[in-house]
Amino acid sequence: MENFTFYSPTYFVFGKEEENNTGKYVKRFGGSRVLIHYGGGSVVRSGLLDRVKASLEAEGISYVELGGVKPNPRSGLVYEGIELCRKEKVDFVLAVGGGSSIDSSKAIAAGTLYDGDFWDYYQGKMVEKALPIGTVLTIAAAGSEGSPDSVITKEEGMLKRGGHGEALRPAFSILNPALTQTLPAYQTACGVTDIMAHLFERYFTNTQDVEVTDRVIEGLLSTMIHEAPKVIEDPDHYQARANIMWAGMMAHNDCCGVGRVQDWASHDMEHELSAIYDCAHGAGLAVVFPAWMTYTMNHDVMRFAQLASRVWGCPMDFAHPEVTAKAGIEALRRFLGSIGMPGNFAELGAKEEDIERMAHTACYGNGREGQIGGFVSLKEEDVKAIYRLMI
Ligand code: NZQ
Ligand code: ZN
Repeated sequence: MENFTFYSPTYFVFGKEEENNTGKYVKRFGGSRVLIHYGGGSVVRSGLLDRVKASLEAEGISYVELGGVKPNPRSGLVYEGIELCRKEKVDFVLAVGGGSSIDSSKAIAAGTLYDGDFWDYYQGKMVEKALPIGTVLTIAAAGSEGSPDSVITKEEGMLKRGGHGEALRPAFSILNPALTQTLPAYQTACGVTDIMAHLFERYFTNTQDVEVTDRVIEGLLSTMIHEAPKVIEDPDHYQARANIMWAGMMAHNDCCGVGRVQDWASHDMEHELSAIYDCAHGAGLAVVFPAWMTYTMNHDVMRFAQLASRVWGCPMDFAHPEVTAKAGIEALRRFLGSIGMPGNFAELGAKEEDIERMAHTACYGNGREGQIGGFVSLKEEDVKAIYRLMI
């Protein structure tokens, strides 16, 4: 295991009806003038927004609102939010929604306190200062409720890029699994896929002797495989929703990633797909991951075989571990198909003619210098070959 520091100061509030306490937590973490930031309307339709507002009013906290965050959130609304926060002297940003609303809130929170263009943070500059952020989460997926990351798409050129910094970790996050019961099955499955992807990105490492995080990741993956079919079949299954929601947080606040080098090439490849085709991030990952695994398997076939055996229950073939490894990849494909995820470019709406462009941006965008991936280092030609496996 490698040396590490780990600081995850978010105060998590988990369970039924906890959104009614939002005002108390905003007050506890110093908010007196709040920007409520949300998406395309699901929180209005469900009545959640009204409950959150009532809880702020009960604490005497004033607020302004900005809705309209799109999935794969855009920079235009971030600029609008920054202006609004400055004009209204906002001192706390409250995201009500999914990863997109949270990421947009994080960008606004950082941009409000920054003299330059907030986009600098999405081109490699570390975020060191931001207004405090709170979240009321409505989908188990991106893990932004506990992460120091935010992903925004710049309309000009449709560049999807990540910003990072400990200042972006939410002060508090409210996780009520019942709020996820209104999700369409497809969005639920996209979330499940993203959570599993966050675990794979960490599992595939060259760092030796990381048994504790290996085993935690395997446990979380097994949980997803066990619980996901229950919520696809019965959207109101509270206990399964609860397990998935907490797994989503654990998968991405980095408690599973400490002390080990992580990969993240699949996320880099997926971000090109969701930038160009505006597909759901989880759906893109469902197409990318089996292809990436197929291409990189021989780099450490025993690690793939270990995953196949411990998580998917494939019999371990010690004489031919590649057989076990392949069976694991096939099990993943079948699982993703069974929860309604796409399996190739056509099902995703992606086009072969964009492969060159995507491979180039994946390897050279965001200040990258021609290669991606901490487990297997991929150059542009490798990335093209992996995209071709998705056709
Ligand atoms: O916009 P509304 O109307 O709220 O609808 C949303 C949206 O259409 C809907 N939805 C969310 N909760 C709902 C609901 N519909 C009914 N009932 C509910 N309870 O679901 C759709 C997707 O929402 P979104 O916020 O986009 O989902 P997700 O949480 O998957 O976020 C995706 C974004 O997060 C980024 C992705 O790239 C993508 O842009 N990521 C952020 C990360 C981070 N900050 O740490 C890490 C991830 O790897 C990821 O890249
Ligand atoms: Zn992700």
